[in-house]
Amino acid sequence: MLEIKNISINTQDKSLLHNISMDFQLWKNYCILGKNWSWKSSLAMTIMGNSKYILKSGDILLDNQSIKNLSPNERSKLWIFLAFQHIPEIPWLKLFEFLRTIYNVHNETNYSFLQFKKIIEPVFQELNLDREFLRRDLNVWFSGWERRKLEVAQIKLLQPKYIILDEIDSGLDVDAFKKVAKLVTEENQEGNTFIIITHIFTILDYIPVDKVFVLENGKIIEEGDKKLVNKIKEKGFN
Ligand SMILES: Nc1ncnc2c1ncn2[C@@H]1O[C@H](COP(=O)(O)OP(=O)(O)OP(=O)(O)O)[C@@H](O)[C@H]1O
Ligand SMILES: [Mg+2]
Repeated sequence: MLEIKNISINTQDKSLLHNISMDFQLWKNYCILGKNWSWKSSLAMTIMGNSKYILKSGDILLDNQSIKNLSPNERSKLWIFLAFQHIPEIPWLKLFEFLRTIYNVHNETNYSFLQFKKIIEPVFQELNLDREFLRRDLNVWFSGWERRKLEVAQIKLLQPKYIILDEIDSGLDVDAFKKVAKLVTEENQEGNTFIIITHIFTILDYIPVDKVFVLENGKIIEEGDKKLVNKIKEKGFN
């Protein structure tokens, strides 16, 4: 179980999150809702260990062990994964090398070009992604749909257990969104846990959620079951 225990977060000059507590159990899915500027992405970055977000108090536990001092790499090895809201572009870093590096670091292996080719090509085939992509610079000139598909490719490759999707629905047209939602749903069958951050709700038609948290101004203002989503859909966040 992944537990966020009463955390408060600062950046260098701002206080962002206040006394947040959440539990995420395997086999269940969660949703974090909130209007723009409610500090949802900051919370995701904090769980993943981005050092810009400084833990002022509280702790983050995985199976009762504190992970608050671990680097993002180390947290990834413990099966936590974050699909970013804003996916970075990295010119000069070939997609193949990026994927091979994260795979090797994650699994503590040292697969060569040829060894990794045998691993990545079936994943690309399954996702209907052209192998030519592997030669391109990471995310540079990729469409929204291609970027999201590559996030799914990373999930397939790393097989994380706690998967945080930060507005995976942004930047997609309706059809592309449905396809991504379907791919994600297929990944939700192996006893993993999705933590879905959104303010659009449509993704929740595809992935069943067990618990919903609503954030505002860096605080949890409400929590409950899926009925809370319907309430917010009808009445808005206020
Ligand atoms: N590293 C940082 N340094 C300074 N300010 C930050 C940092 N990260 C986030 N913020 C600020 O925190 C506020 C909340 O940002 P955040 O991206 O977490 O909100 P959000 O709920 O994800 O919004 P959205 O729904 O628009 O994605 C913003 O004012 C943002 O500029
Ligand atoms: Mg955000």
